[in-house]
Amino acid sequence: MRISDKPVAKRLEALGVEIRPGVSLEELTSLGIGGTTDQLLIRRYDTLPQVMRELKNEGIPHKFLGGGTNVLVADGELPWVVLHLPTSQPGMRVEGTAAYVDAAADLGGTVTFCAKRDLGGMEGLIGVPGSIGGALRMNAGAYGMQIGSYVREVELYRAATGENEIVRGEQIRFDYRHTSFAPEDVMLRVKLELPSKPYKEIVAGIRVCNEKRRASQPLNQKSAGCIFKNPPGASAGRMIDELGLKGLRSGDAMVSDRHANFFVNAGHASCEDMLKLIDDVRDRVRKSFGIEMENEVILWRN
Ligand code: EPU
Repeated sequence: MRISDKPVAKRLEALGVEIRPGVSLEELTSLGIGGTTDQLLIRRYDTLPQVMRELKNEGIPHKFLGGGTNVLVADGELPWVVLHLPTSQPGMRVEGTAAYVDAAADLGGTVTFCAKRDLGGMEGLIGVPGSIGGALRMNAGAYGMQIGSYVREVELYRAATGENEIVRGEQIRFDYRHTSFAPEDVMLRVKLELPSKPYKEIVAGIRVCNEKRRASQPLNQKSAGCIFKNPPGASAGRMIDELGLKGLRSGDAMVSDRHANFFVNAGHASCEDMLKLIDDVRDRVRKSFGIEMENEVILWRN
């Protein structure tokens, strides 16, 4: 969707929005898959309600992109613009045992920043790619911890009211890779309350998690992490592996030969290639194990 030549573009620019015309989502996602559209960089969080009103009044469909590490985006000219918070120099500060972090901050960078100030708890998240905003929305987790456990407050744009609001941690439900935020809510900032730990101890924990991850996940290939959620009481990766599906391909989309729940873009995979592979694997698991697997990756098709 192109809006750079429409009158609304000027009004958005007056609100501090930078419009980048015709950006490829291949460049903005870890899977390296996706078509083109205009990208809107929202430089001032306080203008978000006005920006959203402009888009609504003009009937411009939009989607909010965080780190782009957990989305599978459709091919071709996309029917919506992509909104983005700029990632250069996002705010991060620590007061006592509380960390205040902007949603655009890198998740791993936040873990390290807090560690250097003797605040731990999030060691398991060190290798999880993505932004703080995305981690909050999905309740990112690994190695027995999840970010939701440490959330005390979230500042967000709430779609239901059209305003920015601060929500207390206990008002939010954090489940396995799911939260009570509405799909159109936009994460802006978070206050985390973290356990005090000596830096050395945190670093030792981080090393262990990094080693485990390096040993089991295809970190240097284009992927969106795990494709399926683990069904209750079962492991998606183990089931797919047991069926001998590592290396299975649809075009350039391939089941990783390292971790069977990671599907990688082994060249120039299209969204359709990846969707075919996902459906194929889901069908085979259903037939063999009688288990219906739910996507963990978020699909942006329309
Ligand atoms: N397994 C296999 N073959 C494989 C992959 C895994 O047999 O190809 C077995 C492992 O040996 C292990 C079990 O399956 O016994 C579980 O595997 P693993 O420890 O790798 O964890 P996982 O359940 O597959 C989850 C998260 C990951 C997270 C890791 C580490 C989900 C869907 N996945 O993976 O998160 O990094 O634990 O805590 O919850 C993500 O969310 O994108 C993600 C990668």
